[in-house]
Amino acid sequence: MILGIETSCDETAAAVVTLEGEVLSSVVSSQADLHARYGGVVPEVASRRHLELVAPVVREALDGAGADLGDVERIAVTQGPGLVGALLVGVSTAKALAWARRLPLTPVDHLRGHVASLELGGEPVESPFVCLLASGGHTLLLLVHGKTDEPELLGTTLDDAAGEAFDKGARLLGLGYPGGAAIDALAQEGHAEAFSFPVARVPGLDFSFSGLKTALLYAVRDLGERELERRRADLAASYQCAIVRALTERVLAAAEQTGVPRIAVVGGVAANSELRAALPAAHFAPLSYCTDNAAMIAAAARHVRPLAYPEYLDLDVYASRP
Ligand code: KG4
Ligand code: ZN
Repeated sequence: MILGIETSCDETAAAVVTLEGEVLSSVVSSQADLHARYGGVVPEVASRRHLELVAPVVREALDGAGADLGDVERIAVTQGPGLVGALLVGVSTAKALAWARRLPLTPVDHLRGHVASLELGGEPVESPFVCLLASGGHTLLLLVHGKTDEPELLGTTLDDAAGEAFDKGARLLGLGYPGGAAIDALAQEGHAEAFSFPVARVPGLDFSFSGLKTALLYAVRDLGERELERRRADLAASYQCAIVRALTERVLAAAEQTGVPRIAVVGGVAANSELRAALPAAHFAPLSYCTDNAAMIAAAARHVRPLAYPEYLDLDVYASRP
């Protein structure tokens, strides 16, 4: 069994996954409510909360799997990218647990974890495939050659991430934080053609979402308070439609340009119902493993060489990919 730990942002998560990739337990404790009043994640608040939650969350994951530390063969932990203070809580916990039992430890890249969420149920995706990773912190187009190879970067965002665009839009619409799921739900009651929002045309396979956010800001301002109330669902639907169009156009272009027809979508935004509908032939990560979780970290650890005791004791975290 692999015990996975994930603390890169505002979710404290632990999971037990077998070496074959079967999830025995997956516990995610979200701090979203704690950060909601600030409209986004406050790093120092996140670190302190991880510190309080990490031990009970690991305990719950072990209990859920009907296991104890003696059954664990390997510890996997997110090393980066993410908030350094938050990552340090997970890495220190992982080191302490591994050290206590002289277990091997596998540091996992959070983005490789999202790609590995495709292995947690659903139809397996055959390599190579084009992978859209769209979350609150990243929007990447990757060409994945195989489970152990470093994915090739085809495109990324020049400004905001797709999830960030959803969150900022939700804030402008008064829907709270995080806002992706709230926009998704409200959009079902609106008309996507009601407002015409721009899709940025940047060269190559990159994305840009900052102009879209500004367009929504102006639309909200022009409507005024009362009209905004009446048109909120239309705004949500039109705004979501523009983000989904930008993502779909680029991922299809990537498949065309690389000659690799298989497409997969992972990350928090992969939970979006309109994006799922817009790419009916694509492989999507299972809904419960789209947003941050530790099962995907444990799954990814299966393809990385573990560090033996005591090699990992001086392991450090990273904020962005080295
Ligand atoms: O992967 P994730 O949990 O965290 C990062 O690694 O960043 O992604 C969180 C992001 C948030 O921006 C959230 O608003 C977005 O995923 N999200 C959604 C939906 N559910 C979560 N965006 C659009 N539609 C959804 N249903
Ligand atoms: Zn993530």
